[in-house]
Amino acid sequence: MSEKEIFEQIENYFKWYQKIYGSSLYLKHEISDVNIVAQAPVQPASQKVTRVSGYSQTSPELQEFYLQIKDCRKCELHKTRKNFVFGYGNANAKVMFVGEAPGKEEDEQGLPFVGPAGKLLDKMLFSVGLKREDVYIANVLKCRPPMNRNPRPDEVMQCEPYLKKQLELIKPRLIVALGLYAAQSLLKTQQTLSKMRGSIHQYENIPIIITYHPAALLRNPMWKQQAWEDLKQVKKLLQKT
Ligand code: URA
Repeated sequence: MSEKEIFEQIENYFKWYQKIYGSSLYLKHEISDVNIVAQAPVQPASQKVTRVSGYSQTSPELQEFYLQIKDCRKCELHKTRKNFVFGYGNANAKVMFVGEAPGKEEDEQGLPFVGPAGKLLDKMLFSVGLKREDVYIANVLKCRPPMNRNPRPDEVMQCEPYLKKQLELIKPRLIVALGLYAAQSLLKTQQTLSKMRGSIHQYENIPIIITYHPAALLRNPMWKQQAWEDLKQVKKLLQKT
């Protein structure tokens, strides 16, 4: 890589950083809930939602579906879950974000992406002019795998129909798959994330953008530049729809 390219990468990284985090640079130990809430342009959904049902601006159909499946016992995960995490957001959303599975905080609150990865997701949404209330967020698995282990094929197989039905009811015009499990499950493929990223795929005639899972971005900040490229594509497609 030439010196010029290295400088370009650094410049792009800081531009992306500024878009996501604003003008203040802070160190990891400074990132507390208080800081993030103070800096976030919208109050994260985790702070505002009344935690009763796991859905927000719902439709009667979505509500009925939630009631049908909330006590699911199809796989072993029901034994260890605290809450069934149905999904959250706008039933009329133009864009639906699909993650992997609830983590600890999500299991406790019954809502998707309310932990550290969710805080980054809020900032990613904001960077393309969206807030939680504009989108719908759901996971491939609705129950937390113990110790946040990877979803198992049988669990994905049992749970996938729920996501499929949510997509049918919400009818988004764009899907954003967050990470490998969401991408592989929606596209019914075993390809790697790096092979799938960078192109627009289709799920039943709905375009899908595949990007890194926010938790992976927290572990590997060097991927944020590529994630920003994906988000720009999301913005572009949303402007067209
Ligand atoms: N990771 C996910 O994939 N989903 C969540 O809801 C939280 C973390």
